[in-house]
Amino acid sequence: MSQQKPVEIGRVISIAGSKVSGIMATHNDANESEYALRAAQMGAVVTMTTPRSLVFGIIGGLTTQNPTYPSSPDESRIIEIDLMGEAFKKDENGGLIFQRGVSIYPGLGSPILTTTPEALGQIYSQPSAPNIKVGVLQQDRSQPSYLQVDELIGQHFAILGNSGTGKSCAITVLLQAILNEYANGHIVLLDPHDEYEKAFKGQAEVIAPENLQMPYWLLNFEEMAEAICSHEPRSREIEAPILKDAILAAKQEHQDGQENPVPFTVDTPIPYSLAKVREHIRAEMGRLNRPEKAQPYLRVISKIEGLQKDSRFAFIFSSMLLKDSMGAILSRILRIPVEGKPITIFTLSGVPSEIVDVVVSVLCRLIFDFALWGAKDNSVPLLLVCEEAHRYAPRDKDLGFAPTRRSIARIAKEGRKYGVSLGLVTQRPSEISEVILSQCNTLFIMRLSNERDQRFVTHVLPENAAGLLRALPALRAQEAIAVGEGVSLPMLICFDAIDSDKRPHSDTHRVSTGWDGDQPGLDFVDSTVERWRKQDR
Ligand SMILES: Nc1ncnc2c1ncn2[C@@H]1O[C@H](COP(=O)(O)OP(=O)(O)OP(=O)(O)O)[C@@H](O)[C@H]1O
Ligand SMILES: [Mg+2]
Repeated sequence: MSQQKPVEIGRVISIAGSKVSGIMATHNDANESEYALRAAQMGAVVTMTTPRSLVFGIIGGLTTQNPTYPSSPDESRIIEIDLMGEAFKKDENGGLIFQRGVSIYPGLGSPILTTTPEALGQIYSQPSAPNIKVGVLQQDRSQPSYLQVDELIGQHFAILGNSGTGKSCAITVLLQAILNEYANGHIVLLDPHDEYEKAFKGQAEVIAPENLQMPYWLLNFEEMAEAICSHEPRSREIEAPILKDAILAAKQEHQDGQENPVPFTVDTPIPYSLAKVREHIRAEMGRLNRPEKAQPYLRVISKIEGLQKDSRFAFIFSSMLLKDSMGAILSRILRIPVEGKPITIFTLSGVPSEIVDVVVSVLCRLIFDFALWGAKDNSVPLLLVCEEAHRYAPRDKDLGFAPTRRSIARIAKEGRKYGVSLGLVTQRPSEISEVILSQCNTLFIMRLSNERDQRFVTHVLPENAAGLLRALPALRAQEAIAVGEGVSLPMLICFDAIDSDKRPHSDTHRVSTGWDGDQPGLDFVDSTVERWRKQDR
């Protein structure tokens, strides 16, 4: 039957705040009846009329109150609806003006109607503000779904969902859509699993330890202490002041040799020599009156020497990094100038695990501080996309690296003022800092089957979208509930499909092909051992 006219699927029986319940209609006409049953689906948009407006909402629950088997016409089927917005007649031709929120409520007994494709197209129409298309509406795949760029990127967003639901693909679709419109972007993507190079071929500056220089003098004291001092708290308490005094002395010595010395603290990112740091520690150690006190001094010296000799850490601790290259490093990471590569992919899988937290911390801090100190009248908006965000910004304060969490929290809280925004991606929403997640004004929630994750997400959602969450466990890959500032109204999105050669590299290994024959031989094991020893993936 035609869907061009709205079909009545029920009547309003209760209204409480933004929640409306309705009883489902029983149609005499079998076609209509079947259509109404099909239309009353979780996530479907329905409308109700008032004398002056059209109110619309999304079905968030369906129940049969007095079920019988087989079903009888006496069963009362209840529809729960979350109200989303309303539309007023704009002109005689039937044009409508849509807005979020409801000012005139439907009355008890008002008919609940299906939404025609035309009305759906009007509700989710292309916004007049700058926007991108990222997919189609899940309930009507002929309707494009748009995101508002300034609201999306100006105010942080997050993509949440179980493993394998399509988060990495979604972020690729999103960033590609943005870069198609705005080729001169400044996006930094933290890529812990080396997935994204393939997805942004030719558009990305790919940074890995082999081609990165992140001189130790960019580290603040907390990060330096994390890399050098013992992790056992009591030893660290003794070692940290030794390191701090030596760094200050080495910085002073370096400044004394400069034409225009600058005032500094132990955290100021200015070059200094690690050899001088060692020298100062040795000199201090020589002044000790009891030799048994020398242990912590020796530990710090030996740790610095160890880091300087270890080729895996050369990108941070090489003594060749004394030159002041801060401008060049920032220019490369932040893509200023863009030079045709608007995105920096930071591949972290090759970064030794002992130091990966420090690298991420420095990076997040550099991005925020660059924006903070940038000229106010000529700022460059920056977007930091953080995969596996629960690792860097965990909810549990005892996990992760405190300075990294602080840097991300700082961007989440204050970044907007300085033009830095966050895109967080995680498969464990309940493990990510709630404070940080609650700053994300647009959420894309993909399938989440864990109840704890679902409960956690409910907390950060606007009240009227809570019903939509019941659809969460049933979402398919590529589908998401989108809520918040970046979308004109909550919607179920099906993200555009990406061709297999442009998808982020997925880690899924197939037994059916991998165990098909006795393919790899001893040379495969030998080459693995070699790479393992060289720590070179
Ligand atoms: N938009 C899409 N276009 C094409 N394929 C997709 C899309 N979304 C998901 N897929 C399919 O689903 C698979 C998993 O997607 P993806 O790697 O994005 O999931 P994920 O949520 O990032 O998983 P993980 O949590 O393990 O990182 C992809 O390899 C692809 O086959
Ligand atoms: Mg992924």
